[in-house]
Amino acid sequence: MTPIVEVAGVTVRFGGLVALSDVSFAVRPGEIIGLIGPNGAGKTTLFSALVGLNRPDAGAIALDGQRIDGLRPHRIARLGMTKTFQNTALFPAMTLLDNVVTAAAVRLPLGAARALARDCLEKVGLGAAADTDIDDLTFPQKALGEVARSLATAPKVLLLDEVMAALTPNEMDAVVATLRELRDREGITLVIVEHHMRAIMRISERILALNFGQLIASGTPAEVSRDPQVVTAYLGQPDASHA
Ligand SMILES: Nc1ncnc2c1ncn2[C@@H]1O[C@H](COP(=O)(O)OP(=O)(O)OP(=O)(O)O)[C@@H](O)[C@H]1O
Ligand SMILES: [Mg+2]
Repeated sequence: MTPIVEVAGVTVRFGGLVALSDVSFAVRPGEIIGLIGPNGAGKTTLFSALVGLNRPDAGAIALDGQRIDGLRPHRIARLGMTKTFQNTALFPAMTLLDNVVTAAAVRLPLGAARALARDCLEKVGLGAAADTDIDDLTFPQKALGEVARSLATAPKVLLLDEVMAALTPNEMDAVVATLRELRDREGITLVIVEHHMRAIMRISERILALNFGQLIASGTPAEVSRDPQVVTAYLGQPDASHA
């Protein structure tokens, strides 16, 4: 089967800093992948390279068999891969629906954008909260609202960069259940960055671990959590599970 995402030898440099070094992996369609690594490991940089915000200095990226490295972000979004932004909240002083409409209206006339936005909110179980102002949403609703906003580009692959960072473990479990349902129903491939180890190990079918820009482990959650290099990387950062 053609991988939905294939990354081959990707290197990204910022001046003298090698943020990603010769990273290679493949993702199967419909898989749920957890991407872990200490602060500064290169997780967000990898997401940015995948969606065209950083151009790799070396290597190749394919989406559904088609080379996409070097393409502009809007082209890659149209081909089916999009990411949420770490630390970028929904627009305040606006309803949840209008937030999602804003994303949908990028490629659709307003009427169709509103219909699609409602549909995206239904898909994450937020249909009833459509007319609520962002400031009045709970943290789990905000997290799922960000997912809904990303769904407005009709992605095949959705990259989630710490959307659950503000949640308690119980709230995370509920959001994780919704993400799984979304994958099961829509067949969307999910790549999830989250520092909370219990949540990421529970949701993911496979884990990729980055450290100092290098892919140090790949395997099932059980395999990766006892990988000596992963254990060492996290022992250097004892607060990783709550960062
Ligand atoms: N635009 C940039 N210019 C220069 N250096 C950058 C830039 N973006 C990231 N870096 C550096 O690249 C490295 C990887 O950063 P990145 O944000 O990808 O890490 P991360 O794994 O997402 O970390 P965190 O868990 O804290 O979000 C870090 O050393 C960071 O300082
Ligand atoms: Mg990051």
